[in-house]
Amino acid sequence: MAPDNLNIEVIFTPSLYSARQIKENCAVIIVDVLRAGTTICTAFNEGVERIIPVASVEEAVLMKQKGYLVAGERNGEKLDFADFGNSPSELMSRDIAGKTLVITTTNGTQAIEMAHGAEIIATGTFTNLAYIAEWLTSLDMNITILCAGWRNTFSLEDTIFAGALTERLVQPQNRYVLYDSTIASLELWQQAKSGLFVYLQKSSHYRRLVKLGFQKDLDYAADLNTTRVIPVMENNYFKNIIK
Ligand code: MLT
Repeated sequence: MAPDNLNIEVIFTPSLYSARQIKENCAVIIVDVLRAGTTICTAFNEGVERIIPVASVEEAVLMKQKGYLVAGERNGEKLDFADFGNSPSELMSRDIAGKTLVITTTNGTQAIEMAHGAEIIATGTFTNLAYIAEWLTSLDMNITILCAGWRNTFSLEDTIFAGALTERLVQPQNRYVLYDSTIASLELWQQAKSGLFVYLQKSSHYRRLVKLGFQKDLDYAADLNTTRVIPVMENNYFKNIIK
């Protein structure tokens, strides 16, 4: 039988995470829709075996020197030494199946590092929404949805995703207590969902990525359930637990 009083809490930005006492029996879902989470899902969809997230550029350089493939980005732009940027479309149809990929990004990999110590850490994006929601439903755990945001501020796209995930978790039968932040995310998603592609254009990171020429990534990131993957942390790397 499911434990009573399971919660879903949305944390809007990493700076709020350290102030929270993460509960026992809690899965932390890291959300960086634009684009780290979507890049991770895409890499697994392309057959990557493991993804090692690292928070700093220095760690990524060391991993590159050790021979790893590296996807690296700061402020939206590819790092010079990296094999790939943080771009889902760049990873498609490349020779990456079966390989280990190291990734470092401006906000997403910092949020992942912050969550270390949680019982379960996984990544959710629009592209794996149905799969991660179904898996979380089977877990009987509290759920913390940690939005990566942008440099410790709120981001529209991650919050809307948090609402989309919450909607899937509370339907058809709600067994969770929702925090106010979760209710707010759900309401935002309900406003956005009938025109998600258009709604996301309001976000500042959307505009930043358009200026950098990543329109293709933006369209792709807003498409639901295109990557049948569930990236879950094991030790210091992500594995796709759907085979
Ligand atoms: C991040 O981690 O901040 C983002 O994924 C940035 C990006 O779009 O490359």
